[in-house]
Amino acid sequence: MLTDFLTANQTAKAKRMHTLAIDFGTSNSAAGLSVNGAPWLIEMEPGESTLPTAVFFDPHSKDMLIGHRAVRALINGEEGRFLRALKSLLGTPLLHEERRLGGEKLTFVTVIARFLAELKQRAEAATRLTFTQALSGRPVYFHSADMARNAKAEEDLRACYLEAGFESVTFMYEPIAALRATAPVEGFGLIADIGGGTSDFTVFKQDAAGKSEVLASHGLRLGGTDFDRQISIETVMPHFGAGSNIRDSFGKGTQPAPKRLFNELATWQLIPFVDAPETRRLARDLAQFGEEPDKLARLVNVLEYELGHDVAFAVESGKINANKAAEAEINLTMVEPRLKAPLPAQTLAQAMRPLAQQIKAEASNALALADVPAAQVNRVILVGGSALMGLVQTELAALCPNASLDAENALTAVAAGLALSTAD
Ligand SMILES: Nc1ncnc2c1ncn2[C@@H]1O[C@H](COP(=O)(O)OP(=O)(O)OP(=O)(O)O)[C@@H](O)[C@H]1O
Ligand SMILES: [Mg+2]
Repeated sequence: MLTDFLTANQTAKAKRMHTLAIDFGTSNSAAGLSVNGAPWLIEMEPGESTLPTAVFFDPHSKDMLIGHRAVRALINGEEGRFLRALKSLLGTPLLHEERRLGGEKLTFVTVIARFLAELKQRAEAATRLTFTQALSGRPVYFHSADMARNAKAEEDLRACYLEAGFESVTFMYEPIAALRATAPVEGFGLIADIGGGTSDFTVFKQDAAGKSEVLASHGLRLGGTDFDRQISIETVMPHFGAGSNIRDSFGKGTQPAPKRLFNELATWQLIPFVDAPETRRLARDLAQFGEEPDKLARLVNVLEYELGHDVAFAVESGKINANKAAEAEINLTMVEPRLKAPLPAQTLAQAMRPLAQQIKAEASNALALADVPAAQVNRVILVGGSALMGLVQTELAALCPNASLDAENALTAVAAGLALSTAD
C-alpha cells in the first residue's frame, strides 16, 4: 500500500487531499466524486444534482446567490445584479473588466471563483471531506476560431479555481469525461456534447471486452446560447426596433438602427455590458429620432428596467417549447402587456438550421480526424441540453446513418464521467 511508505504526517495529509470533480458549464454546473467505483453527484440544491451557472448579487444583504435561487431572484424582480454564461467570457478581455456588483467592484474572475468556492463548500458540507484538488471539465475548444484565446481561457479558468481555494486543478475534455460514463458497446461511436456554449466531439472505439479507445476529439464554440441569440435576433429584437430606420438629427436622411446594441442584448454573456448609462442614453436618442418610436420605446424599457436577462430566459423557454410543439411563442409581457413573439416550429427551424449544419460539419471533421467513415459509426451518444434539439439530432442522424442515437444521460454524463475519474 502506498501509505506503507509515507510518514504519519504524509499519510494524514494524503487522506485529506480529496479531489472534487466539477462540470463548470456555460448554462449548468455539477460536482461529484467517485464512491466505491460509482459516480456520486453532490446534491447541490434540494433534489438537484445540477444547478444553473447563474449568480445574483443582492445589494442589501451583499450576498451572492447561486443556482436556482439566483434565477428565482431575477424572475421575482428582486433588486440586484444577475449574471449567467460566465464561462463564455473566459479568454476574453471582458473577464478582467471590473463591475460594481452588490456594492463591491469585482472582476468576472472573482465572480467565477466565488461560484466555484460555493460549489466546493456545498460539496464539503455534504461529504465532510476537504477538497484541495479539482478535476474540471473543459471544452475541446473554448474558442475554436482563436487559439490564443483558447489557451488563455484555460489559464483564466485555472486562476478562478485557485482563487476559489483549490490548491491545484487538472482539466479533462468534457466529451472524454462523458465517454467514461457511457456503458460500452462494441464498435465505433461518437460522443456529441452540445451544451450551452460549445459543441464537443469524441470519436471512440470499443472492443468486445468493453475497453474504450479515444480516436479523436474536436469542438466548436457554438451551443444553446447561440441558438437563443439567433432566435432572439430574428424574432424578438425586431419588436424592440432592430432593423427600423432612425432619422438623422440634422438632415433629412435615415439610417438603420445600430445592430450592435441588439446583438449584445441577444447574447447571454454580453447582457451585463449593455447595462450602462451611455447605452440607455443611446436608446432614448434612437426612440426620439426613430421612425418606429413605439418599438424603440420597448428597447428603452428593457434597458431602464434591466430586463435583458428576463427576455433571454423567455427566448430560451420559447426555444425549448418550440422544439416540442408545432406552435410556441416567446412571452415578452414583462416588457409590455400582451407582447408575445410567435415561434412556430418552422421559424425555429429557419433560425436554427445553419447552426445545426455547422455542428454536423464539425462532427464530420471529428470523424475525419479519427479516420473513421461516418457509415461505420454504430452509436451516437447525445450529451448536453442542446443535443435534445430535434434539428441537431436530425443533422447528426443524417451524418451517421447507421448509428443509434442515445440521449439517456444527456444532462449528467459529463459530471458523472468526471466524478468517476477522481478515482484515477
Ligand atoms: N429540453 C431541452 N430542449 C432543448 N434545449 C434544451 C433543453 N434543455 C436544455 N436545453 C438547452 O441546453 C443548453 C444547456 O445545456 P447544458 O446544461 O448541457 O450546457 P452546459 O454544460 O452548461 O454548457 P457547455 O458544456 O457548453 O459549457 C441551454 O442552451 C438550454 O437552453
Ligand atoms: Mg456541458
